[in-house]
Amino acid sequence: METGQKYFILIVFAFLHIYNVCVANVKWQARPISISKNTTDPNYMDLNVKIERFGQGEFAFTGTYFTTIEMDESVTVELRIYSCYSGNEADYKLTPYSIQPQKFIDYLNTFYKDLLMKNLGDCTDLPKYEDGYVPPWPKGTFNFTRCQISGEGMPEVVPEGFYKALVIISALPAVELQFTVILKVTTKMF
Ligand SMILES: *[C@@H]1O[C@H](CO)[C@@H](O)[C@H](O)[C@H]1NC(C)=O
Ligand SMILES: *[C@@H]1O[C@H](CO)[C@@H](O)[C@H](O)[C@H]1NC(C)=O
Repeated sequence: METGQKYFILIVFAFLHIYNVCVANVKWQARPISISKNTTDPNYMDLNVKIERFGQGEFAFTGTYFTTIEMDESVTVELRIYSCYSGNEADYKLTPYSIQPQKFIDYLNTFYKDLLMKNLGDCTDLPKYEDGYVPPWPKGTFNFTRCQISGEGMPEVVPEGFYKALVIISALPAVELQFTVILKVTTKMF
């Protein structure tokens, strides 16, 4: 599987809490289609990431994440995963893998520390927590420079089709950030 593509899959599956499944030989591949975002107030929180394509179908991500608010107990993260076979906007259906809003802080000691940071490695200056999250989450601009991921913890089989992951980081009333990642999954031919 190509490295940059794994980042999209990571975002989707890391939230599904199956990231501890270690699979050596995945039978599918994914191609990023788009990434988009909305923020209710870019002065409080923003994400600007773009897909870079290079070489033989390689992908990477470059951009910034920005926050100036207190990322405390009140901040939640929600994930909605939609899928469809056709790729037509009207055909997307919500999947059972979606998860209700959970505390942002609860992600830091699980998915963030164990999977996201291990996979991203040194392409980002986001904080690293080897021994568990120590508050507060720092404010400021964090950078992603040609991030590709190592691909830990991917499921072996994923049905073909289009997948849309909508992530909602909510710190209302101050700010709500939404971002959407669309990718296309195909079965690998050996
Ligand atoms: C951003 O908002 C627009 C208008 O409400 C919507 O069409 C679009 O899907 C949103 N994008 C994301 C990433 O949430
Ligand atoms: C991200 O890059 C900017 C511009 O180079 C820099 O000012 C900022 O300190 C970087 N962020 C971190 C967390 O290092």
